[in-house]
Amino acid sequence: MPSTPRTLDLASFIVDRSLDEPLHLQIYHGVRDSILNGRLAPGLRLPSTRTMALSWAISRSTVLAAIDQLKAEGYLEGRAGSGVFVSHTIPDRLNCVKSDRAKSDAVPTGGNPSPQLSNRGSSICDEFRIRREYFDHATPFRPGVPAEGTFPSKRWSRLSTRLWRKFECDPPLVVEPMGYSPLREAIAVHLGATRGVSCDADQIVIVSSTQHALMMLGQILLDSGDSVWIEDPGYLRAQAALAAVGAKVEPIPLDDEGIDLEHALRTAPSAKLCYVTPSHQYPLGITMSLSRRLALLEWSARSRSWIVEDDYMAEYRYAGQPLVSLQGLDEFARVIYLGTFSKTFSPALRLGFIVIPQELISAFNAVRSLIDRCPSFIDQAVLAEFMREGHLGRHVRRMRRVYDERRNCLRHALNSEIPCLDLRPVQSGMHTVAWLPSGSDDCRVARHLAEEGVVTFPLSTMCHRPIAPALILGYAGWNRVQTLQQVRRMERSLRTILSEYCS
Ligand SMILES: Cc1ncc(COP(=O)(O)O)c(C=O)c1O
Repeated sequence: MPSTPRTLDLASFIVDRSLDEPLHLQIYHGVRDSILNGRLAPGLRLPSTRTMALSWAISRSTVLAAIDQLKAEGYLEGRAGSGVFVSHTIPDRLNCVKSDRAKSDAVPTGGNPSPQLSNRGSSICDEFRIRREYFDHATPFRPGVPAEGTFPSKRWSRLSTRLWRKFECDPPLVVEPMGYSPLREAIAVHLGATRGVSCDADQIVIVSSTQHALMMLGQILLDSGDSVWIEDPGYLRAQAALAAVGAKVEPIPLDDEGIDLEHALRTAPSAKLCYVTPSHQYPLGITMSLSRRLALLEWSARSRSWIVEDDYMAEYRYAGQPLVSLQGLDEFARVIYLGTFSKTFSPALRLGFIVIPQELISAFNAVRSLIDRCPSFIDQAVLAEFMREGHLGRHVRRMRRVYDERRNCLRHALNSEIPCLDLRPVQSGMHTVAWLPSGSDDCRVARHLAEEGVVTFPLSTMCHRPIAPALILGYAGWNRVQTLQQVRRMERSLRTILSEYCS
């Protein structure tokens, strides 16, 4: 075992002028590392700063700068008239922990040792590993990708400059835990006009995403093990967020009208919360019927359970009248409404919101104040100004035209090039569902297509129960040329893998 030196060995301690690191930092790091790895023991006396400076041929003030820093951080202590010593408060335990860790790292694991995670952390990571293979590339037809080059960046940057001037280069010092109030006011007005959502600005909570909203709702409204209904097939990230807060996720099948309420009541009658996408079911695009909406509202009022309405695709409806939200029909204040700007602008913006019933305002205020408060002030302020000046409506109308054209382009191309895919009409959203010939395996097909550079999501990965094979194809992010090119590539690739199923 190497013995602990009685003092700092000046000869072995090299101060190197050719390095970029300043000399005082070299001394600081050298002494600190020697203390932390146990080579300099607590109580050991250091040579005088004059001796160190002479030995290393540097100025005494450089040595003093390093020693002062080490004293300020508690590694060294000075005793008047008797010199500088390695601090006694460096716990011996630290060295034990370090050597224990060195021992366990030395165990031959064949790679990095696994970090020690909670059961919850491990199960989220497992889920991520399973889904990841389909999620990685932003190439056609990855669903959920908005059109490139359409973010209103010029206006955004003008508004941002103007706001910084207004705040004289300092953002407000007081953070509003529920979000920046001018943005909350603008959202309340916008939702009333476009979605029939009935709320005041104080019911709006600004969040960074739908998942953030769901995790917060889970923390506030659910206890570990509480049942929640989710749609099957459904939005995996919503499911993961609810499972992450300890909810018992109950997948409920769908029929033509939306979530099958009778099935839900039979299998999980005491659910505390139901997560639905009534305007455009994710991923199938079903619109929940009025009678199903009313039945769901009646269930929540009777059982005092919550309905979480995820209206993620509210703006992209291409035919017929815009639908009123479920929240707008709710007379019992049981619906919590979620909205996101990920589809309106870009998922990179990370801004969304929750509309909560009045009775939850103080609970949200408390949790928000203690846990995270709200997203970055400046993005909220720019968006508030963007909405207040009336640009949002124009932007959405423009995007709706672009996406409608892209939707038609993909449909026509698929119908003419790959007739064995069954496309049912969907009047909203940013993706379409292409049903594969029965008997085929959508995961195998998606993997095969991915190898050819065509990204799709297999429907079966979003389901708990067996379902007919299908691929989810996003169209919003791709222009006509990209779409046509990719459909041709898809046709070539499917010709081999689907030939046995297509007549
Ligand atoms: C059903 C559903 N809700 C919400 C979102 C948006 O999520 P976020 O706000 O976290 O970007 C998506 C994105 O694909 C979605 O599919």
